[in-house]
Formats: sequence, C-alpha cells, structure tokens
Amino acid sequence: MKHYFSRFITALSSLFLLQGQAVGQADNKPISADFPYQAHFVEVLGSRMHYVDEGQGDPILFLHGNPTSSYLWRNIIPYAAEHGRAIAVDLIGMGKSDKPDIEYSFLDHVRYIEGFIEALNLQNITLVIHDWGSGIGFQYASQHEDNVRAIAFMEAIYRERDSMGALFDQFRTPETGWQLLVEQNVFIEQVLPGSVVRGLTEEEMTAYRAPFLEPSSRKPIWKWPNELPLGGHPAETVAAINAYQGWLVNSSLPKLLFTAEPGVLITPQDADWLRQNLKNLRVVDIGPGRHYIQEDNPHKIGEELARWYQSL
Ligand code: BEZ
Repeated sequence: MKHYFSRFITALSSLFLLQGQAVGQADNKPISADFPYQAHFVEVLGSRMHYVDEGQGDPILFLHGNPTSSYLWRNIIPYAAEHGRAIAVDLIGMGKSDKPDIEYSFLDHVRYIEGFIEALNLQNITLVIHDWGSGIGFQYASQHEDNVRAIAFMEAIYRERDSMGALFDQFRTPETGWQLLVEQNVFIEQVLPGSVVRGLTEEEMTAYRAPFLEPSSRKPIWKWPNELPLGGHPAETVAAINAYQGWLVNSSLPKLLFTAEPGVLITPQDADWLRQNLKNLRVVDIGPGRHYIQEDNPHKIGEELARWYQSL
C-alpha cells in the first residue's frame, strides 16, 4: 500500500494516448472523454442533485466515490441502459449537485441518497457502486434490502483497516490535510490520475476538476479521507461499516465483484476473503487496474455487468 502511493507521480508519465484518445488495455476499444447525457435535477433535503437517466425498466443505480462524479461511469452507462434504467447520480457537494453547508459525513451522504431514491420513487434497484459510493450503497442495501435486487461492486469499502499509508495519514492530520486537499487539490491533481494505470487525458482531467475549481468547494473531498474506517476512527463510520459488513456476509442478494491487479481497496487477498465469505457472488477480473478501474477497462466492466444483469 505504501509503495503504491509513492507511485502516483510516476504513473502520470505512463499515459498512453492515441491522438489524444485513450484506449482500454484489454480490448483496445476507445475510452471516450465525452459525457453525452442530458442533465436531470431533483430536489433532495432542500438541495438539487444532478443525475443521468438513460434507458427504461428497473433502475440500475450508479454511485461514485471521492473525488469523482457520474462522469466516472460515462463509458459503462450505455451497456446498462440497453437492459434497464441507468441512473448515475452525483453525490451531494460533488459533480453538478448543489453544495449545501453541511459536514459531508458518510451518514450525511447516506441521507441524501435515501432522499434521492425516495424522490425518484426507485424500486427493485440494482446498485453499481465504487469507493465511497460502495459504502453508501451497502449501507442503503443493509437498511432497505427489500428494495434492492442485486449489487455490483468494485474497489469497495467493505471493512475496517489499520492504515492506508503515510499519505492518508497526512490527509487525516487536521492542518496538513486541509492544506493538501483544499488548498493544493492533491486528491484531484495527484491521487486521481495516479490511481488510473493509463493516466487521464487533459480533457478528462478538465471534467474531473470542474466541480472543484474553488478551494471553498473542496470540503467533501477533504472530508472523505477523514471518514475512512482506520484504526477505530471515526467511531460512527466504523460502527456503520462493521454493521453493513455483517449484513453483507449474511445476505443472499446476487452480487458481482470486479477485481483488478493490483487494486487498492480490493487486493487479491481481499478478493479471496470476499469469495469465501459472501453468498451468491460472481467475481470478474478486469486485468490491470488500481483504484479508478472504470477508467482503465470500462468496456469489460460494461459487458460483464450487462451479462450478469441479464442472468438475474
Ligand atoms: C478512497 O477514496 O477511498 C481512495 C481513493 C484513492 C485510492 C484509494 C482509496
């Protein structure tokens, strides 16, 4: 894990681009930087939340994590929209959603997503979840199992850890963390592109930067690393994650796990644990990937997601 974070900068130089167009590693299909989706908004707890809404049928709800947005799912949405109603929402304070003056705790985000699901009256939901979006999705599913049909997850927060290494220790040190994440925008400028094996193009970076141009907009990015369940802190989040892990182990809902090599949150050891402890689980390896695996192999994720969804 520590070696992984020291590779952030060198990873930037490993961009491989074809006339400005990134290509997937496994299949050479182009990875588009475009976001050709109509913007929809709905009011939740007094704020507007932005979402993409493509296709028809039962909802397939995409939840992103830090510091991304619905943009992360842009190359995967078309595969889901062929078989259902693909909805990709921007978490509150992120993407094109409003930025109310709240704490941006994990449980704040859960409340906004619960409100979003109620406002759209979504039923029989298939969750497709990543990073903190996985925490929110697992928490929602553990509390509303009768409204969830199945769960696809990747680079997910499913357990407490002792540490995430020196960089995250700095993020969690009050003044240093604020300086790095809010003043210097390190999560967007370094952690994000450094966690994609192919790197990101300038066009993609521009899209990811857009919601966070002003330091005053970066509180959600700062808060997320401070919510990671590490060494028993913060207690409220640790308790929630331990509770939903217990639910996950007992649940018979169909599950699909995407793994990558080396991965960050889901290493081969994590994948083994999940294979041994979760019921009704299919595991698909997408090849090389770190944390934002949707940017390295979106077409494989989309194809396998569609195949699994049709088998439900
Ligand atoms: C996280 O937000 O949990 C995360 C981001 C990048 C790499 C690893 C973890």
